[in-house]
Amino acid sequence: MNNFSFYSPTEFVFGKGTEGQVGDLCLKHGASRVMVVYGGGSVVRSGLLAKVEAKLTEAGLPYCLLGGVVPNPVDTKVYEGLEMAREFQPDFLLAVGGGSVIDTAKALAVGLCYDGDFWDFYIGKAKAQKAMPVGVVLTIPAAGSEGSGNSVITNTTTKVKAGLRLPMLLRPKFAVMDPELTMTLPLYQTAAGISDMMAHILERYLSNTPDVQIGDRLAEGMLLAIMETARKLMADPSDYQARANIMWCATIAHNDTCSLGRQEDWNSHAMEHEISAEYDVTHGAGLAVIFPAFLAYAAPKNPGKIAQLGHRVLGISDSGDAVADAFATAAALKAWFKDVLKMPVTFAELGVPSPDLELMNARLHRLKGEVMQGYLPLDAAATMEIYKLAL
Ligand code: NZQ
Ligand code: ZN
Repeated sequence: MNNFSFYSPTEFVFGKGTEGQVGDLCLKHGASRVMVVYGGGSVVRSGLLAKVEAKLTEAGLPYCLLGGVVPNPVDTKVYEGLEMAREFQPDFLLAVGGGSVIDTAKALAVGLCYDGDFWDFYIGKAKAQKAMPVGVVLTIPAAGSEGSGNSVITNTTTKVKAGLRLPMLLRPKFAVMDPELTMTLPLYQTAAGISDMMAHILERYLSNTPDVQIGDRLAEGMLLAIMETARKLMADPSDYQARANIMWCATIAHNDTCSLGRQEDWNSHAMEHEISAEYDVTHGAGLAVIFPAFLAYAAPKNPGKIAQLGHRVLGISDSGDAVADAFATAAALKAWFKDVLKMPVTFAELGVPSPDLELMNARLHRLKGEVMQGYLPLDAAATMEIYKLAL
């Protein structure tokens, strides 16, 4: 196990009706003027935004509204928010929505404390020293941004979808998590969220660092819980207990609990980000396409953890041949995404029958370097082969 430092200051307030506490939580975490960030309208239709506004008013907090954040959020909305903030002068950002909304709020949080272009942070041109506090009312369990120090934004000019990871600055101050708020989710979004949270665990599980039993067992336990609960949820989307379990799983899948003390991978995420940047697909669905392809590519080259995943989580019996078991694991995960989650598992099923693989691969390595380090170092030839396996 490697040395680590873990800073996770988020106050999680979980359960039915907890969104009623949002005004008090903003006050408790130092807000005096709040910029509320939200998406394309689901929170308007559900009445959640009106409830949040009423609670802010009750708490005596002036607020402004920045709506219209799109899935796979873009830089132009951040610039719009920065402009609005110059007028309104908020000291707190409240994200009401999912990963896209939270990530936009986080981009504003660093952008508002910087004289230059916020995008500098996403391409490593500058290092953020300060951020405005962010609070969250979560409406979809998926990206895990409510507990992570990450933000992912797409530059509309260059089509680069880049992530910023600043756990010391960007973990939210609080996250309100009411599973009932997720009842209005389309089943496809529920399933894509489950695929994303599973990928967050797998990116941490696929590690060459030895002797991290705690991380392995946490990851395996979470995967088993997610897979068991997902079956119930896909059969009955109104099952509150299933929604509650899935919601909390999404958070701990991505708040680093199961990656502490070891090298992580993240290459499948980097490969997926190129797909959602170019074709605007749902991130979790893109991962259901890429992850099994990556496992199949890695199976003969570094089978150990893949076979272990199969033995302990996916019901693959130990044949004594790690490579064969790793291939069986890749196939089992792909079948599970397809049969249980009804996710696409090929580019064609994703709605991208003829992807421009050359373009995505070139962009990927421009952003991530010639060889992407991780569970298996991947050069451009390797990532191209993985993309082709996903066709
Ligand atoms: O925009 P609205 O109208 O709100 O609709 C959203 C959106 O269309 C809808 N939705 C959300 N809650 C709903 C709802 N519809 C009905 N009822 C509800 N309760 O769902 C759609 C997707 O929302 P989005 O916020 O995009 O989903 P998600 O949480 O999956 O976020 C995806 C983004 O997060 C990034 C992804 O790349 C993608 O851009 N990620 C962020 C990470 C992080 N910050 O730590 C890590 C992840 O790996 C990921 O890369
Ligand atoms: Zn993800």
